[in-house]
Amino acid sequence: PNCLVIMAGGIGTRFWPISRSNYPKQFHDVLGVGKTMLQQTAERFEGIVAPENIYVVTSEEFAGIVQEQLPFLSPDQILKEPQRKNTAPCIAYAAYKISKKHPKAKLIVAPADHVILKEEAFKARVKEALEAAKEPVLVTLGIVPTRPDTGYGYIQYQESAETAKTVKTFTEKPNVELAQAFLESGDYVWNAGLFVFAIPTFKNELTKHLSRLAEQFEEGRAFYYTEEEPEFIRKVYAVCKSISMDNGVMEKAREVKVILADIGWSDLGTWKSLHEINEKDELQNAVDAQVMLYETTDCIIKAPKDKLVVIHGLSNYIVAEHGNVLMICPKDQEQQVKQFVEDATKLD
Ligand code: GDD
Ligand code: MG
Repeated sequence: PNCLVIMAGGIGTRFWPISRSNYPKQFHDVLGVGKTMLQQTAERFEGIVAPENIYVVTSEEFAGIVQEQLPFLSPDQILKEPQRKNTAPCIAYAAYKISKKHPKAKLIVAPADHVILKEEAFKARVKEALEAAKEPVLVTLGIVPTRPDTGYGYIQYQESAETAKTVKTFTEKPNVELAQAFLESGDYVWNAGLFVFAIPTFKNELTKHLSRLAEQFEEGRAFYYTEEEPEFIRKVYAVCKSISMDNGVMEKAREVKVILADIGWSDLGTWKSLHEINEKDELQNAVDAQVMLYETTDCIIKAPKDKLVVIHGLSNYIVAEHGNVLMICPKDQEQQVKQFVEDATKLD
């Protein structure tokens, strides 16, 4: 069958203070649509993956939130990580566990915190990716880049009439000069962070490029879907390497295909990206709060609805309140948010 693996273990620090380490953004209704990002992610695959084949990989501490938000999941479908070890171990755990039941399943690995506005187009591209994954290749979705963003992976592909195009190079998070050059060259797309492959293909690539990790999760065969699984996983995670799928596998793999996708995609990694996709008033303010605004333009304002936010004379700012934090920060200085989080942690 087709199985879906949702990666939901990140802590989304760039979205502070809405995204907190004990309740990160994937569990919030960031867009104000009545569903959390995790719920939207699961729903997006309706008709492609049956509910019993959806798996969510997350930290032990978020397992309860996942169960609450996706009540149809059985405990076996929530994979609990004792530590964060980035995406390669996360995907390996899921792939090796699922392979015990379905050795030849195709996996769609998707992040829990992305926005996709064009649902139908998205489904069509995923179906194409599943088709392409009948061959022994790793398949990704590529987004035509609009700026030299250094927070993404860049995929250089071979121009062709085929739906799934051969990937020439994969460069994870280049520096800004390189990103600029990629943007200008015209044959690069952003990696949308979604991977599609048949389990045997993934196992082969992992064995080639991260052999120790492959062995470690293969050893779990006897324990997956038993009471001993948590104990086994705790031991593996204590010693396994922390590395991303992108650096550890995608950059090195030779057989990679990309499907160009115009799907209204946003990684929603930052406040600015939220401002871009949100509906805005005529003065370009994206507001999710009770407000009285005077001479205020291009702001993002997010606050609990029981508070009236009154602003006069502010442009290009983020105003965000959540829990015990109120943050006011120029929109073009949002890289500071990481610093705020670090400093605030010291106050706790
Ligand atoms: N379960 C689990 N465990 N999930 C994790 C972990 C982990 O240790 N670390 C990250 N994740 C989840 C995040 O919650 C997110 O949904 C997804 O895996 C990707 O991780 P990020 O940390 O957000 O990666 P990134 O945004 O820096 O880069 C990736 O995504 C970009 C597109 O958004 C890469 O794939 C890039 O190449 C890509 O362009
Ligand atoms: Mg991300």
